[in-house]
Amino acid sequence: MQASIFGVGHWAPERRLTNQDLEKMVDTNDEWITTRTGIKERRILEEEKGVSHMCVRAGRQALERAGIGPDTIELIIVATVTPDMPVPATAALAQRELGAGACWGFDINGGCAGFLCALAVGAQFIESGRHRHVLVIGADKMSAVLDYTDRNTCVLFGDAAGAVVLGPDPTDETGIEDFRMRLDGEGAAFLYMTGGGSLHPATRETVDQRMHFVRQDGRTVFKKAVNGMTGASSDLLADNGVSPADLRLLIPHQANLRIIDAVSKKLGLREDQVMVNIEKYGNTTAATIPMAMSEAWEEKRMRRGDRLLLSAFGAGFTWGSLLLTWGMEGPGDSGGIKDL
Ligand code: ACO
Repeated sequence: MQASIFGVGHWAPERRLTNQDLEKMVDTNDEWITTRTGIKERRILEEEKGVSHMCVRAGRQALERAGIGPDTIELIIVATVTPDMPVPATAALAQRELGAGACWGFDINGGCAGFLCALAVGAQFIESGRHRHVLVIGADKMSAVLDYTDRNTCVLFGDAAGAVVLGPDPTDETGIEDFRMRLDGEGAAFLYMTGGGSLHPATRETVDQRMHFVRQDGRTVFKKAVNGMTGASSDLLADNGVSPADLRLLIPHQANLRIIDAVSKKLGLREDQVMVNIEKYGNTTAATIPMAMSEAWEEKRMRRGDRLLLSAFGAGFTWGSLLLTWGMEGPGDSGGIKDL
């Protein structure tokens, strides 16, 4: 039995940080950010709230759209690099607030590819027949780990959450068909946050040396992202006998519009086959794909039976692509998994 998506949701904080706001904070300008990244603004969560706040709201919307209550969820997986705290897992904090009393759960750290990792893992529990309802959430509060004096990173990221409900499709007409995920630890030198873990626990020195902020070599990450996403996608499509023309939509990780354009072009996709919303949110790390998926569904850009390709690249390096047939009816149509 294939694992299909029967509910999708997203949530982003109200507060907007625009390129014009950033012009007042670091030596940058709207023209540079727009042409180099495609980003116009990002959302910022209140300081006193953690990522679980956003997980719960996106999760609730996905459950509502699936037509099921939190008590029927058997497993919650949260992909994030910005948990509320190191212990306990954000999945536990989200479970408590959601009132999902009958489940287990855990967090996954797959960087910007975290949601794809979580989706691939969650799907296994449905396919094996072990569970019927799995909630997969991708969420990050990147504003908590950004150095707002470093123009190389602070203009790129924002805060948000997205979620999907996975369940079995008894018809086997829809669902996750295949994926290719990769990991290359050589990437650790190019995208990292060194402070706060067991190697460099928080001390006065780690704070003074600004080790609790994310850093990257943007040019290297850019090139690796284009090659990684294109390679994983091409292999996946070829191995499954799917041509780019068969795809309704590519929903890529939203890190940089130029990365998205380069990957789409190399795959031979038309502009209308690619979902882009980076201008509104920036890079929300584990949240970008479920956020874009939720907005694409709201905009009726896909319907049940459509082929979708998801692709992401992030810290690790970890990256990959996932092929699926969409399982939800359109907004306003009947559907959900309550009767399955
Ligand atoms: N405003 C103005 N100038 C800037 C800014 C800024 N915000 N940031 C950097 N610059 C300057 C640099 O200092 C450099 O100046 P120099 O030539 O005098 O040294 C110049 O702009 C060009 O810098 P590059 O790094 O070569 O610019 P590039 O075109 O590569 O764009 C960017 C930088 C946007 C970071 C790009 O490399 C990128 O998006 N990389 C991918 C990184 C990424 O998205 N990582 C997120 C996590 S992983 C992922 O999600 C894929």
